[in-house]
Amino acid sequence: MGIEIDILNGDASWQRAEPLHRAVWGRHVVAPPSKRPPWADIEWANADLRVLIDAPDDSRLACHVGIYFRTVTWNRHKVHIGGIGGVATREDCRRRGYASLAIDAAVHTIRANEAVKFALLVCEPHNFAFYQARGWHPFTGEVYCAQPSGQIRFEAMAPFVYDIVRAPRDGKIDLCGLPW
Ligand SMILES: CC(C)(COP(=O)(O)OP(=O)(O)OC[C@H]1O[C@@H](n2cnc3c(N)ncnc32)[C@H](O)[C@@H]1OP(=O)(O)O)[C@@H](O)C(=O)NCCC(=O)NCCS
Repeated sequence: MGIEIDILNGDASWQRAEPLHRAVWGRHVVAPPSKRPPWADIEWANADLRVLIDAPDDSRLACHVGIYFRTVTWNRHKVHIGGIGGVATREDCRRRGYASLAIDAAVHTIRANEAVKFALLVCEPHNFAFYQARGWHPFTGEVYCAQPSGQIRFEAMAPFVYDIVRAPRDGKIDLCGLPW
């Protein structure tokens, strides 16, 4: 039997995605402040859509990619962009190509929105090569976003862009809302 990929409304599918999020990131968020990674205290946006892949062997969720759409500013010009976040594969299902498939499906969905000029994600150094091998480029400029405390410069992870009809590499992006 082939692998089934679902792309569902973000809020409606959160219940399915939540246990995988908790398994992959939960321990970081509950760690004592001195042991928490810099992103553990960030308030993140909810995904607009989610790509979900179930494991064929036990029908439980194996892989998740959140999809985001937002009108941001790049060097003060408004631009509509897409994004991915919450990329995770269950530990016992890794290296089967699930995240690659789910990211492809997410990028396909983002590209289908004709208003979108490029896509953005943020990640930690150990995943740089993974995303670069899949066509994402480092964005060396500054990223700003909203947090409950107000606007902040986002430095907890590194931004990468996927070119569509724009190929931003530097400058200033304001996400005009919570990050993803
Ligand atoms: C990063 C992560 C999502 C990758 O998920 P994954 O489903 O294992 O990813 P894939 O299987 O598509 O690719 C992983 C590697 O396995 C390789 N691979 C894919 N299918 C394979 C197969 N059938 N046999 C052997 N290797 C395979 C890929 O080439 C890739 O190697 P590369 O990084 O050298 O290119 C996963 O490790 C994870 O959840 N990590 C923790 C959370 C995290 O860091 N998320 C990213 C947040 S930005």
